[in-house]
This record gives sequence, structure tokens and C-alpha cells, in this order.
Amino acid sequence: SRNIRLAVIPGDGIGAEVVTEGLKVLEAVVGTKVETTTYDLGAKRYHETGETLPDPVLDELRGYDAILLGAVGDPSVPPGVLERDLLLKLRFQFDHYVNLRPVKLFPGVETPLGGARPEDIDMIVVREGTEGLYAGTGGVMRRGTSHEIATQESLNTAHGVERVVRYAFEKALGRPRRKLTLVHKTNVLTYAGDLWARVFDRVGLEYPDVETDYCHVDAASMFFVSQPERFDVIVTDNLFGDIITDIGAAIAGGIGLAASGNINPDRTAPSMFEPVHGSAPDIAGQGKADPTATILSVAMLLDHLGLAQEAARVEQAVADDLVERLTGWAGRTTHEIGDDITARVTG
Ligand code: NAD
Ligand code: IPM
Ligand code: MN
Repeated sequence: SRNIRLAVIPGDGIGAEVVTEGLKVLEAVVGTKVETTTYDLGAKRYHETGETLPDPVLDELRGYDAILLGAVGDPSVPPGVLERDLLLKLRFQFDHYVNLRPVKLFPGVETPLGGARPEDIDMIVVREGTEGLYAGTGGVMRRGTSHEIATQESLNTAHGVERVVRYAFEKALGRPRRKLTLVHKTNVLTYAGDLWARVFDRVGLEYPDVETDYCHVDAASMFFVSQPERFDVIVTDNLFGDIITDIGAAIAGGIGLAASGNINPDRTAPSMFEPVHGSAPDIAGQGKADPTATILSVAMLLDHLGLAQEAARVEQAVADDLVERLTGWAGRTTHEIGDDITARVTG
């Protein structure tokens, strides 16, 4: 079979540090079958040239099998510039309408939830990735005055909601519990919530074997902490999904372990894999970042490319490493964790 062509965007802050370790594991598991090309996009490029994601680069990226991204965002760049014009532009242009975020407690990992067992925290959040409040429409009037008015609109289309809801039902069907929960805020967001609820109910008729449930996002946030076992697969809009997956990361052992895939299920453009966390400027350049989230994102990437066995090997190597952490391996650097997981993949 032909080589995997992978575009790599290390990005800002700890992005490059964690991506180095992710690639180390990837190369160990697939050998020379992966060809990587690195793209220097992020704060440095922005300061030097004013560019975030030039069109020729976007076109070139379209030709890869997948993209691995570290993180973007830097305190020296106004908020939103890199996030919107680089990261969100990729998600939107490549139609990553499924943002897949597993929330899974591995055995041996410490959780702030007393008494929670791995079987209690084992869910997958299907976050919509191309619409909602992230659409970026709205505007400002009388900026800088005491009469300033800022609006930010949530865009929800029947097509956009249906495709992600359908994906989530399929996902639920493939899991033992076959339960899907819609998380929204239908009691307040009456237009968008109504659309989501109607689409959810209608598509659900086609999946009689999937148990369905509904939860307002505020209550869902509480249940993540008090009764995480309620959830199997969750489908939700872009912003709610962003917020609850950081809560999910916290309950499943921390943001350093949370992986994600920005998936284009129709395969009309490459999917993009990245840790849930950001560029962590507070610890950048110190070798303190945990690369595990990126390594688990590499496992998702392998799975997406049809390399299920290789994906399982990476996940098992991480699981074994996580068990060992209980017994006092806490002080390892980013490189050391990457090396140890690489050794388990090859060994
Ligand atoms: P963050 O995720 O970067 O950091 C939050 C906290 O978690 C920090 O204390 C950080 O040190 C810690 N942390 C994050 N990743 C870690 C890791 N791998 N190992 C150990 N500790 C880790 O979120 P933030 O501080 O809100 O945002 C910083 C910047 O990153 C902002 O510019 C933001 O826009 C951007 N951001 C980017 C992405 C992305 O590229 N996908 C995601 C979130 C935030
Ligand atoms: C994430 C991040 C991004 C998001 C930001 C950086 C645009 O928080 O990947 O979770 O909000 O989706
Ligand atoms: Mn986020």
C-alpha cells in the first residue's frame, strides 16, 4: 500500500514539543510508510509576514491524507487572529463537521471524582465543528462608547445539524451501550434548540436500537462531575462541545490526556488531529508539557486512515504507560514520556 502523506502544523507554545513526541510514536508504529511535511504556521509567521493561512498553503494542505496539529495561539497576537484565521479556517474549509472527543478514564489514572472507575467515565463527545457561534457572524455598533452593542450569532442549518446527528447515531450504534444524549439549551435557545431537537428526534426514528436522552448543557456539566456514567455518546453544538470537553478532560485525568479528531466523514478533504488543549504559554519551552494527548490523537489519526491495529497498539502503549505513572514516574519530561511510550510501541 502507498505511503501515508501527513502534513504537520506544530503551531505555537507547547505545540512543537508535543508534536515531536506524537511523530516519534507514529514513525515507530508505521515505520517508513509515513511521509511528513512540516508547515510553519502560527505566531512567528504572523509576526514576520502578517500571514496566518495563505491560500496557496490551504490548497496544498488539501492534498494530504491527514493533518497533525499541535496548538495555536500566543499572548503576543490579539485573541482570535490565529484561532479564527488558522485553526477555525482549517476546520471550516476542510468541512470538519465532526469534532470527535473521547472522554475516557484509563485504568490507574487519577480523577478528581472520588470513587469513579474507568467504566464510569467512558464516553465520546461528537461536537459539531463548522457552525454554531463559531460561524463568526454578528457585529458591533458604537464600539468603544458606553452605548456599544455587540452581537454574536449562532448559525445552525438543517443540513449541518442533520449530518452531525446522523454521525452520532451511527457512532452510538457501534458501541455496546448504544445510548445517545443530545446536549443543548432548548429552554433558552428556542430557535437553534428547536432545530436540533426536531432533527434529533426525526433521525432517531431510523435508529430504534439506540436509546436516546436529552440534557440541558448546564445540567450536563453537573452530571459530568456527579454522574458521568449517565453518558455514552453525546452530540452537541460547537460551543457547548468546546466547554464540556474541557470538563471531560478534567474528570478523565487532565487536559494533558485529552485527544481529538476534526473529522470530515465524507473524505472530501483531509481530517485533522490535535490535542484538546492549547499552546499553554505558561509552560512552553520547559519540557513540562504532557505529550500524551497528542499521542492519543495520533492513535485516532491511524484509526481514521484504516490502520486499526496500529491505532490499538498506540492506545495500549499509552494505557500501559498511564498505569506506571501511579508508581512514581511523575517527574518525567515531555521527551521522556514520548520515549517511554515509543519504546512500548516498538517493544
Ligand atoms: P491551554 O490548554 O493552553 O492551557 C490551560 C492550562 O492547561 C495551562 O495551565 C496549561 O499549562 C495546561 N496545559 C495545557 N496543555 C498541557 C499539557 N499538554 N501538559 C500539561 N499541562 C497542560 O488553554 P489556555 O491557556 O486557555 O489557552 C492558551 C492559548 O491556546 C490561547 O491562545 C488559546 O486560544 C489557545 N488554544 C488553542 C487550542 C488549539 O490550538 N486547539 C486549544 C485551546 C486553546
Ligand atoms: C479547542 C480550542 C479552540 C475551540 C479555539 C482555540 C478556537 O479551544 O480546540 O477546543 O474553541 O474550538
Ligand atoms: Mn477548547
